[in-house]
Amino acid sequence: MPTLGVNIDHVATTRQARQTVEPDPVAAAVLAELAGADGITVHLREDRRHIQERDVHILRQTVQTHLNLEMAPTDEMVAIALEIQPDYITLVPERREEVTTEGGLDVAGNLPQMKEVVTQLQGAGIPVSMFIDAERVQIEASAQIQAKFVELHTGSYAEAKDEATRHKELTVLAHGCKIAISHGLRVNAGHGLTYGNVYPVACLEGLEELNIGHTIISRAILVGMERAVREMKLTINGQL
Ligand code: PXP
Repeated sequence: MPTLGVNIDHVATTRQARQTVEPDPVAAAVLAELAGADGITVHLREDRRHIQERDVHILRQTVQTHLNLEMAPTDEMVAIALEIQPDYITLVPERREEVTTEGGLDVAGNLPQMKEVVTQLQGAGIPVSMFIDAERVQIEASAQIQAKFVELHTGSYAEAKDEATRHKELTVLAHGCKIAISHGLRVNAGHGLTYGNVYPVACLEGLEELNIGHTIISRAILVGMERAVREMKLTINGQL
C-alpha cells in the first residue's frame, strides 16, 4: 500500500488566523511522525497565508521521515527551495484568489519554463514531482522534462457527486498511474482525499505516496493528531 505524507498546512492556517505562535506546525509534524506518518508535506504559498519560511527551515532540521515542499514554479520559490533542500518538491499551480490548489499544472503548455525549473531543482539533487491531472498529455510532458515523479490530482474523484462518476474518475486515475509508470515516472496522488474515499485510491497499482491534509487536520482538532494519523494509516491499509 502507498505511504502517507501528512500535509500540515492547516495547523498553520489556524495559527495565522490570530497571527500568533500556536498551534505550531513543527509540533504537529513531530506528533504525526510518532503516529506513523511516512512523510511531512507543507505548501509554502507566495502569499504566505499559512506556512511561513521559518516553519520550513525548522521542519528541515526536525523532520525525521522526509519533507515534501509544495511550491509554485517561480524564481522566488526555486531560490528558497535550493536553500532549504527538502527531500522532494511537488510543483503546483498557484492562484492568489483560490481557496486551495485547484487544477493540476499545465506542464504540456509551459514546457520550457517547467523544464528549466525541474532541471535547476533536480540538478541540485532534489527530486521533483509534478502535480497534474491524470491526462496522458500532462504525464508525457512530465516524462519529457525528466521529472522523477508525478502527483495525480484526485480532486475530481473526491468531488464526484455519485458512484458512477466516482468510478469513472477512479478509472482515469488507474489509467494515469499505468501510463506514468510505463514512462518511468514514480507516482503519488492527493487532494481532497478523506477517511471515507481514500481506500480505492490507495489500492491503485504502483502508487507510492498519498499526500493528505485537510481531512487529517480536521479530525486531529477533535481527536488529536496522533489518533488522526494512526486512523488514516489504518484506513489506507484497509484495516479500519
Ligand atoms: N497534494 C497537493 C499537491 C496539494 O496542493 C494539496 C493541498 O495543499 C494536497 C495534496 C492535500 O490536499 P487535502 O488538504 O485536500 O488533503
